[in-house]
Amino acid sequence: MDWELRQQEDIKRIETWLQTYWMERKPYGDLNGSILYSLMAGGKRVRPILLLETCRMCGGNVEEALPFACAVEMVHTYSLIHDDLPCMDDDDLRRGKPTNHKIYGEATAVLAGDALLTGAFEVMLEEFGNLPAERVIRAAACLGKAAGSRGMVGGQILDMAGEGHTITASELTELYGLKTGALMTAAAEMGCLLAGGGEETRKAVVRYGEKIGLAFQVQDDILDVTGDEATIGKPVGSDAKSEKNTYVTVKGLDVCREMVNRLTQEAVSALDGFQDIGFHRWLAEKLAGRNR
Ligand code: IPE
Ligand code: IPE
Ligand code: MG
Ligand code: MG
Ligand code: MG
Repeated sequence: MDWELRQQEDIKRIETWLQTYWMERKPYGDLNGSILYSLMAGGKRVRPILLLETCRMCGGNVEEALPFACAVEMVHTYSLIHDDLPCMDDDDLRRGKPTNHKIYGEATAVLAGDALLTGAFEVMLEEFGNLPAERVIRAAACLGKAAGSRGMVGGQILDMAGEGHTITASELTELYGLKTGALMTAAAEMGCLLAGGGEETRKAVVRYGEKIGLAFQVQDDILDVTGDEATIGKPVGSDAKSEKNTYVTVKGLDVCREMVNRLTQEAVSALDGFQDIGFHRWLAEKLAGRNR
């Protein structure tokens, strides 16, 4: 199977849906340009791909899951717009372009993020097609929990609180599980829930999501030190500038590389015994070796 091609097809589906939805919405004033500017800037689309492919793996209908996948990408894009603000990481480059607030100003960037976050829930609760109500509700609740104060936003506050003073590796694991792992895990879990997957399958895909989520953030920290700005499309050295604690500062690059490989193997092992895990294995391994 050509997984790369399959990923390209997923990305095309996701981008077409997002573009069409927001073009038709016509948000007021600068919101229109601001939302499309960040959303269509060409992120890797890892989370929506993971949702679609987990839905497929669990026997679900990928077309019906598409608005939910796009909802996750909307939440993720909002998190990046806010993460780059001067009051947070204060970065100037994202997805290879000046950050949202650099072009549209801080007030519009905050509102574009707000609109993407709320829009995600509107999408899930309106564009559910023929999916059973219970699956829709569980998927929406899953995203709400993962995005909120005990998920991504919770991780972001711990990340900010940790700036400038030492924190332990176990505190970092918790922080990463929240700021990055929660949304990645929710994407996988939502795919399973929308497909009507059983409890054992749900637990396995959650475990897979947690492992690749953690590996993903450690790799992000590695690239913040060793990456090439033109390739990663965001500033190198952002973490050092903000005096962030990362696994790289706490454990060093070599341990981090081993960690990414170990977590990737653990992610794949979590799906042992399940059918059709080819894409998930390929994705985990590809993310471990990524340079953007
Ligand atoms: C960046 O996420 C933020 C982290 C959680 C590390 P991605 O690396 O998925 O960013 P895009 O979507 O490809 O721009
Ligand atoms: C961000 O982590 C995770 C989010 C929830 C946005 P980082 O601050 O390391 O992400 P980048 O490096 O700016 O993409
Ligand atoms: Mg940050
Ligand atoms: Mg950042
Ligand atoms: Mg980073």
